[in-house]
Amino acid sequence: MKTRITELLGIEYPIVQGGMMWVGTADLAAAVSNAGGLGIITALTLPTPDALTKEIARCRELTSKPFGVNLTILPAINPPPYEEYAKAIVESGVKIVETAGRNPQPFMSAFKAVGIKVVHKCTSVRHALKAESIGCDAVSVDGFECAGHPGEDDITNLVLIPVVAAKLSIPILASGGIANGYQMAAAFALGAEGINMGTRFVATQEAPVHDNVKQAIIDADERQTTLIFRTLNNTARVFNNKVAREVLLIEDQDGATDFAKLQPLVAGERGREEVMVSGDINGGVWAAGMALGLIDDIPTCEVLLQRIVAEAREAVESRVSSLLNL
Ligand SMILES: Cc1cc2nc3c(=O)[nH]c(=O)nc-3n(C[C@H](O)[C@H](O)[C@H](O)COP(=O)(O)O)c2cc1C
Repeated sequence: MKTRITELLGIEYPIVQGGMMWVGTADLAAAVSNAGGLGIITALTLPTPDALTKEIARCRELTSKPFGVNLTILPAINPPPYEEYAKAIVESGVKIVETAGRNPQPFMSAFKAVGIKVVHKCTSVRHALKAESIGCDAVSVDGFECAGHPGEDDITNLVLIPVVAAKLSIPILASGGIANGYQMAAAFALGAEGINMGTRFVATQEAPVHDNVKQAIIDADERQTTLIFRTLNNTARVFNNKVAREVLLIEDQDGATDFAKLQPLVAGERGREEVMVSGDINGGVWAAGMALGLIDDIPTCEVLLQRIVAEAREAVESRVSSLLNL
């Protein structure tokens, strides 16, 4: 398969595994890259910039194919040392970075000085246009369906992707709600040249999370997500579990939401230790998207990517081909 995304990233199939807190380790990133897509290590999953440098080295031992690193810059009470993480990325010789959460401009000159390709993940046309204007090489456009942070505009990909495609010159990855090749074909029809997935990759053999999490994804349907942090203008789509509902009860109270009340419920460490490591599905909040409704197995990344490519082909050859006879 050849698109501007495969050419830009040096990959076989235009299928990217987006950055995922607690999930995007070298194990998953290398598995996706070995399967012909682009795997991405999530920088902040590593406790320090030094640990990130070591994780990048570990990924190089697991794959000789291209892989990337995600740098997510979100509002935080105690912000991580973003500059130092960026320095670790630059010095490690990684050639692809996925930025997210905020305008990556402060990091662009350092990335560009060493030839890093920057894919910015964004959720609106205005942010996509900004990303293009500051020199990003591609955008990954997260529709309202996505796991994690869909922004505040609530525009689904059926509209968002073609609107962005009409306005941008750089290539677009469609992200959010995608779990199969029929959707990949649809994304191409809308103007994307690749897809980015999160939730689908959590339910793979190589994802370094407890089997209970993978099983919960299989058992859930498309209605089992909810939106927290709306009152903070920092909306996040997460699995609809006990803790998420407790968060919503606090957000429903009159007046401005006091983040101090939410903090013990949503602490990242809780999501990692109790959910991803120990397998208590109700142990903390964890990101999941509407694609839950389309996932019913736990394949290897190799099997998954081959299937997606075959489905996309079938979509074009049989499902969509009747349009040629209109
Ligand atoms: C468990 C999990 C953690 C995530 N963490 C991050 C993150 O730290 N940074 C980021 O940019 N995106 C994060 N995402 C979003 C994904 O990279 C991707 O944009 C999103 O999952 C796409 O929607 P989908 O899940 O419907 O495929 C996360 C997604 C999941 C499922």
